[in-house]
Amino acid sequence: MTDMKSPVLVEFDSGIAFVTLNRPEKRNAMNPALNARMLEVLDELEGDERCGVLVLRGAGQSWSAGMDLKEYFRDNDDKPRNATLKARRQSGGWWSRLMYFEKPTIAMVNGWCFGGAFTPLVSCDLAIAAEEANFGLSEINWGILPGGNVTRAVAEVMRHRDALYYIMTGELFGGRKAAEMGLVNEAVPLAELETRVRKICAGLLEKNPVTLKAAKDTYKRVRDLPWDLADDYIYAKLEQMLFLDKTKGRDEGLKQFLDDKTYQPGLGAYKR
Ligand code: ACO
Repeated sequence: MTDMKSPVLVEFDSGIAFVTLNRPEKRNAMNPALNARMLEVLDELEGDERCGVLVLRGAGQSWSAGMDLKEYFRDNDDKPRNATLKARRQSGGWWSRLMYFEKPTIAMVNGWCFGGAFTPLVSCDLAIAAEEANFGLSEINWGILPGGNVTRAVAEVMRHRDALYYIMTGELFGGRKAAEMGLVNEAVPLAELETRVRKICAGLLEKNPVTLKAAKDTYKRVRDLPWDLADDYIYAKLEQMLFLDKTKGRDEGLKQFLDDKTYQPGLGAYKR
């Protein structure tokens, strides 16, 4: 664990890096200090062998109450425009780093999730929410539209009617509804949230990390490509992956199934 006063805490356990947004007294609203620190944390974790999977969670009763309406918005209003631009770069910077992070990422949504928090939520590869969590695109309630790529993020994972409904009404919805709409993978009771996330992490940690990174990036990139470019990109990624995987996992996987007969790929991963 790092400094308790830090806006972000990092703890390691069993191959998992638990990254905690740590401003519970402000419901983990994202201020410039938190955003700047998150960029550093992602840099640090990228090469840290203790981090096989990154789990993003919030301290206290909130995942994140979105942008800090005082420090991110109002405090910059009277400053030269570059202050606002810098704040945007800091938040957008760590969210886009998260989207293509070197390790698998899971948003563990333990409570409130508002506005700007939807972008890091969608940037994580997977998201598991507490049934008790509450979500809201609350921008409309205080007179703005969902910026910070929130609009793009919800368009990525939510259906057209659902996205517009919540963008326009700002109504709250719970964890089960978030799962039903595809905003998160699933919702479980809060008391079971960490156990469920740890179980998913354990499964991911059995997989070849080079393959995982290639597979998730490829999926995220090819969705917007025409078929012929997608096909070419996928094979380019596949061959890059084989080059980068010094353990020669593909060959090992084939050997353990075809020669050793020690596992069946349909039922689980080869032994690394
Ligand atoms: N920005 C700045 N401060 C915040 C934020 C925020 N997004 N959210 C909470 N806080 C602060 C409050 O001002 C309060 O500070 P204070 O103790 O100095 O008065 C403290 O956190 C606790 O907040 P409460 O409202 O008292 O906490 P409560 O648990 O009753 O309610 C809730 C939690 C529902 C999350 C409420 O704080 C809230 O509505 N926050 C704003 C949510 C939101 O709409 N965020 C912006 C989304 S749009 C965008 O991100 C661009």
